[in-house]
Amino acid sequence: MANNDKISSQTMNFQNKYFSTFASGFESVIEDLLKRSLGNVEIELLLDGLVVYSTNSTIDRIKRINFFTNSFLLFRFFPKSGNVTIEKMMTVVLKDRDRLHFHLPSNLTTFRIITSKENQHVSINQGLMINMEKLISRNFHLRPDRSNPKMQFWFLTRSEGYGFFGMRLTKHQDYADILQKGELRPELADILCQLSEPQKTDIFIDPFAGSGAIPMERAKNFSYNHIYIGDIDSRMIDKLKFKIKKENAITLGSWDATKLDDFKNDSINKIVTDPPWGYFGNVNIDLNGLYNRMLTSFYRILKKDGIIVILVGDRIFFEKILSKFTDKFQLKTKLYVLVSGKKAGVYKLRKI
Ligand SMILES: C[S@@+](CC[C@H](N)C(=O)[O-])C[C@H]1O[C@@H](n2cnc3c(N)ncnc32)[C@H](O)[C@@H]1O
Repeated sequence: MANNDKISSQTMNFQNKYFSTFASGFESVIEDLLKRSLGNVEIELLLDGLVVYSTNSTIDRIKRINFFTNSFLLFRFFPKSGNVTIEKMMTVVLKDRDRLHFHLPSNLTTFRIITSKENQHVSINQGLMINMEKLISRNFHLRPDRSNPKMQFWFLTRSEGYGFFGMRLTKHQDYADILQKGELRPELADILCQLSEPQKTDIFIDPFAGSGAIPMERAKNFSYNHIYIGDIDSRMIDKLKFKIKKENAITLGSWDATKLDDFKNDSINKIVTDPPWGYFGNVNIDLNGLYNRMLTSFYRILKKDGIIVILVGDRIFFEKILSKFTDKFQLKTKLYVLVSGKKAGVYKLRKI
């Protein structure tokens, strides 16, 4: 990775520079995932939940990376040594017009400028804002529209002191409206699937599927041999029947993940799952018993070298249980992450 503060002055090997945001805590695996997705990519800066990279990949290719929350085309980076503010950033961009050359798709007609300080939208001097709108208008042949724009140009500053000016490439639906209670966001489900090293020969299972975010992501964006999706609550499975595409290589079932009696020994090679955390509606469950029996049943159905990727809420508690399975599983990766603002752990295990 390049020295953080030199990023703006470097001559890049690759044509385009982007920055993307992702769930906090996955920093140590993002470079690997990005390389697997794009091939030719150079990571230039890695912050908590944000990566800056250069690549020859097209905007469309970047938009199709599903493990990012949002991605932006980077026009200008501001190092933290500059005590950066949004007003200063705009002043620099207004003086330095040459840098704003980029050929945009012709279907984009209107835009809005968003100013964000440490993840909060902030208002700024209106004179500067209008000058900036004029500059973007002229450069990209777009009309300002603050209520319903086709695209957004962002000026954002981070708590570490860095500033970014870029054009937003992705715009997710507001997940608060569409996700079921406890359902993982698709980009988190995507990272978990990616960590399991997906291959088209995989016999995959999510035995605690809930609303099905993980297996739906696996079915939609990766190849596979077979996907098994199950939950002890048959109502979840009934709902999933309407959401999951019907095909022979996908099986839905209602089962107890701590037994998995329908599965033969050594029959599965990938398990990616999100068992109960013991919070919310299920505070009274015996998590100790559940996790112990779960790891025992997972060991039984997994083939040698098979991979488990598991998301849990209470890391210390889970690690204590995991320490009793060191002769059965090798811990490959451990990540301390934030899921909807809550501390969680992601563990990648390989069956010995
Ligand atoms: C944390 S939720 C999974 C959420 C899921 N990842 C999603 O995106 O919706 C855990 C799920 O495990 C199920 N569950 C609890 N105990 C189980 C067991 N013994 N066997 C199988 N499923 C179980 C619950 O019904 C719940 O749907």
